[in-house]
Amino acid sequence: MRVDVVSIFPEYLAPLDLSLIGKARASGVLRLAVHDLRTWTHDVHRTVDDTPYGGGPGMVMRPEPWGEALDVLAPDELTPDGLTLPRLVVPTPAGVPFSQALAQELAAESHLLFACGRYEGIDQRVLDHAATRMRVTEVSLGDYVLFGGEVAVLVIMEAVTRLLPGVLGNAGSLDEESHAHGLLEGPVYTKPPSWRGLDVPEVLRSGDHGRIARWRRDEAVLRTAGRRPDMLAALPVEGLDRDDLAA
Ligand code: ADE
Repeated sequence: MRVDVVSIFPEYLAPLDLSLIGKARASGVLRLAVHDLRTWTHDVHRTVDDTPYGGGPGMVMRPEPWGEALDVLAPDELTPDGLTLPRLVVPTPAGVPFSQALAQELAAESHLLFACGRYEGIDQRVLDHAATRMRVTEVSLGDYVLFGGEVAVLVIMEAVTRLLPGVLGNAGSLDEESHAHGLLEGPVYTKPPSWRGLDVPEVLRSGDHGRIARWRRDEAVLRTAGRRPDMLAALPVEGLDRDDLAA
């Protein structure tokens, strides 16, 4: 997968060199480049923002540097390796909610282009113009406001990268984790069997795989009911089994 990130704070994206994302880049599974938006400014002050039309507080990102950045990173003509236009992802509190399902959708793309807005956002014409030639998705991490899109890109890329083939050692962990089946994952334990007076549940040490699977399922249903009743309500009836109702 190819990923380009455009930001006025490229250093903010430094964590993308670390840990498993760094490893995915080193192995070539992920070809990620971070670009400074100010590369595409032409005045001495390298201006990227201006006051909003219609008045109001704060500043809005001017369209010209963004237009040039997208022209370079998403050129209309096919690239020599036959790649098509990227999917433009714009983090903003006004976007559609980010979810595991959206992470899966993004992980299936061959090229993502992230545009990190700052201040009150990017001039709408940048997105409207981009939408005439490529898919544009505005994404929100949640119902709160960050300073800009950079941290959202870190979050989105972490969720996406772990879904890329070959990144996780044990692909089975993708299957069991929270949100994979519309339920939160239940509690997990490791050694020692007793710690500060607290014991690992007996069932997990029983070696009875049937009982263990049932217990894990029950814990997931109970935890989801307690913390995320909205998720439980959204589960299709086929998603629950008869014994879940007992839990
Ligand atoms: N930029 C600012 N706030 C944001 C949010 N909640 N989600 C995504 N991008 C943002």
